[in-house]
Amino acid sequence: MRLSLIFLSVALSLSQFAVASPNEAAENAAMAAQPYEESPKGTDGGNAGGPPGNGGGRGGDDNDNDRRRPGPGGSRGDDGNDRDDHSGPRPGHGGHRGGGKKDDDDGHGGRHLGHGGHRHHHHHDVCEQALEHLQTVYELRLGYDRMYATNHTEIIELAMNKKWTIPKAGGSFKVFSKQIKGTIPITRHYNPKTRRHTLAATEAQRNELNAKGFLPDGDLGFMFPTSICNTQPVEQFWLGSMYTPKVYPGGRTYPQYTPVNNFVFKMDPTEILQARRSQYRSQGIIGYGYPLTTQPKPRPVQVITTRPDCREVFKYLTPVYEVMLAGKQNWLYTTSHTRVIELLNARPRATIKAKDGVFKILSKQVEGSVSVCRMVNPTIKDHTLALGDDQKESLLAQGYFNDGVLGYMLPNRFCNSERVARLYSAAAKNHVFKLDQTEAALLIHRNRYKDEGTLAYAFSMRAAQPEPETPKPY
Ligand SMILES: *[C@@H]1O[C@H](CO)[C@@H](O)[C@H](O)[C@H]1NC(C)=O
Repeated sequence: MRLSLIFLSVALSLSQFAVASPNEAAENAAMAAQPYEESPKGTDGGNAGGPPGNGGGRGGDDNDNDRRRPGPGGSRGDDGNDRDDHSGPRPGHGGHRGGGKKDDDDGHGGRHLGHGGHRHHHHHDVCEQALEHLQTVYELRLGYDRMYATNHTEIIELAMNKKWTIPKAGGSFKVFSKQIKGTIPITRHYNPKTRRHTLAATEAQRNELNAKGFLPDGDLGFMFPTSICNTQPVEQFWLGSMYTPKVYPGGRTYPQYTPVNNFVFKMDPTEILQARRSQYRSQGIIGYGYPLTTQPKPRPVQVITTRPDCREVFKYLTPVYEVMLAGKQNWLYTTSHTRVIELLNARPRATIKAKDGVFKILSKQVEGSVSVCRMVNPTIKDHTLALGDDQKESLLAQGYFNDGVLGYMLPNRFCNSERVARLYSAAAKNHVFKLDQTEAALLIHRNRYKDEGTLAYAFSMRAAQPEPETPKPY
């Protein structure tokens, strides 16, 4: 069994080598055959250093190569080892990494000496806690710069107004939003001179970045410095300049270098392979987090059939304003008067559908109501609404970001509430929500909107009175 495992892992690494090899061989041959050209100095902020010393690599990776080995216990080997780890379904199957205890090993009493019951339980608590505080890291791009962010408000702002793009809908990997025992903070850093972002896991790395002209740029979240609880490594890569052979008339080839000088952070094995093939140099592991597929413990499915207390419901009704942003069929829903005024002032062509609001929802969660989140997809510039956690999760996976809670709505038709239809135009890539059935019908017939079903139940602007109370017997 053990032998076959080893054989399997050798076979896996060999097969991966066979895949990676022709490309790398070609790249290395091309590199060796051509004289190196320095990437322009001064634009690299000291990270790209200069020309490589000998053979090895490009642009100062001698300096940088080992700086990312985090803390003690991160007894990872060289690149070859890293590669084996990524290829396997779970890292550390060969058992060569002492610190990297897995959950799967728990319960095999006696196999791991010194792993007493106390620590066993403790370890388990940490892993359970870790799963409760997951947050997704998104990779944002602006030119060659790569920035990593978890704060949805910031991401929406950067993508809507500052032209950052988010190539991977649903994000790149997950880190922790809270400092769980054993995790370390991951900080963001920005170099205004080179206009490049990067991340740091240790004080030494932060000092080094400060010395190179990077400024602190907030926090990303927390990661484990070693692999525990089935976490997976996030690897840092750096590319000084991009090499492309340029063929001149007569067939002579000269190397062409484009300065890039960016840092990328990858967990996905396919993306790691792609980074290596794109001439990125590994700078080690920044920390350990979870792949996107890792979900928090499934919540018990809550089908709300509770009949709300209608007097309570009517106490908290608040109007929803529908603002159409200029230039495109692009509606935004808000309960904030201030936000409406801001939008109308900031965008001269923005218009408001009905100045008193289009329908009423609850400003407070009462029993039997469900939260409604405003979700934004900055890529297609669509604002939409999600009822409850499941709709929210599903939209997050499709490239939407959480723009905050709009309010609360009823999942069923209680208290004389009315259906709010979710309408979508594929042509305009726009969602719109209508309680008014005449308006909904117009959008469907004139503007080719499709009725995607019911968002939830809300109240018309006229609704103000609770249902007559049925006398209680006593
Ligand atoms: C998220 O970003 C926004 C805007 O940049 C900021 O106002 C807010 O404080 C941030 N939230 C957290 C939890 O850091």
